[in-house]
Amino acid sequence: MKALVTGGAGFIGQWTARRMSSAWDVTALDSLSEQVHQDPEASARAFPGAVVRGDVTDEGVWRRLERPDVVIHLAAETGTAQSMYEFDRYRRVNVGGTRLAAEMAAAWGVPIVAMSSRAVYGEGRYRHSDQTISFGGTDDPTAVPAASRESDEHRPVSVYGETKSEGEALLTEFAGRIPITVVRPQNVVGPGQALHNPYTGVLAAFLARMRRASLSWSTGTVSRLVTLWRCRMWRRCSSGWPCIRPRSARFGC
Ligand SMILES: NC(=O)c1ccc[n+]([C@@H]2O[C@H](COP(=O)([O-])OP(=O)(O)OC[C@H]3O[C@@H](n4cnc5c(N)ncnc54)[C@H](O)[C@@H]3O)[C@@H](O)[C@H]2O)c1
Repeated sequence: MKALVTGGAGFIGQWTARRMSSAWDVTALDSLSEQVHQDPEASARAFPGAVVRGDVTDEGVWRRLERPDVVIHLAAETGTAQSMYEFDRYRRVNVGGTRLAAEMAAAWGVPIVAMSSRAVYGEGRYRHSDQTISFGGTDDPTAVPAASRESDEHRPVSVYGETKSEGEALLTEFAGRIPITVVRPQNVVGPGQALHNPYTGVLAAFLARMRRASLSWSTGTVSRLVTLWRCRMWRRCSSGWPCIRPRSARFGC
């Protein structure tokens, strides 16, 4: 069985492909973006299968690929902050690339698993002291963030979140033709992540600073960011990766 993993040379792609590679013949379609890969050749070598260097928005590249048995679509521009000023690039890759991935999966008649993001929910849910739930930002200092539910309305607050939401919406156009699975992860961190990439995400930025033993300070109103930072008890794993441990369930982390 053959799996095509777009963005396969990236952080989640490498882990996914390694886990699949005992049973699947995995191929990556990846642009080996310089923002993510300091050493593109090393990233390609680390992938447990063939790597086709190309852009997911390039139809010609897709047409040259061998038909897989499944498309796992991970390739994306992933910087939430960067998306706010490089919106054309984010739309081109995250919306246009997802459309092309779905079109090709449909043409091949194979399932697609597409990576969306929790960012589609924006600020998400807050639980207040009287147990009521509100959505979006809140001035209530007693409110704590609560886990989003799958059925929650999409309220993205970044272009990145918008592109992920639009990508999901366009995938539904193909739902009658091929099986479609959408995954919406919260922050994913771990060994192999491009900590040098300033746009990877705030948690990765914290971890990079922890590794350099330089502290970050966050000020401002209570927010998901500050909540995260309050959960600052951490220990070093045997792998050398700093693991964050919740200090108190009160902060919901
Ligand atoms: N890591 C997280 O916290 C997180 C959370 C939610 C969702 N996601 C989603 O998971 C997926 C994988 O994320 P990741 O953390 O592995 O990111 P990553 O940056 O490590 O990997 C993305 C890969 O996509 C490639 N890529 C970028 N643009 C491309 C293009 N136009 N054509 C082909 N390849 C391209 C990059 O070179 C890179 O190898 C993304 O869709 C991301 O939005 C990640």
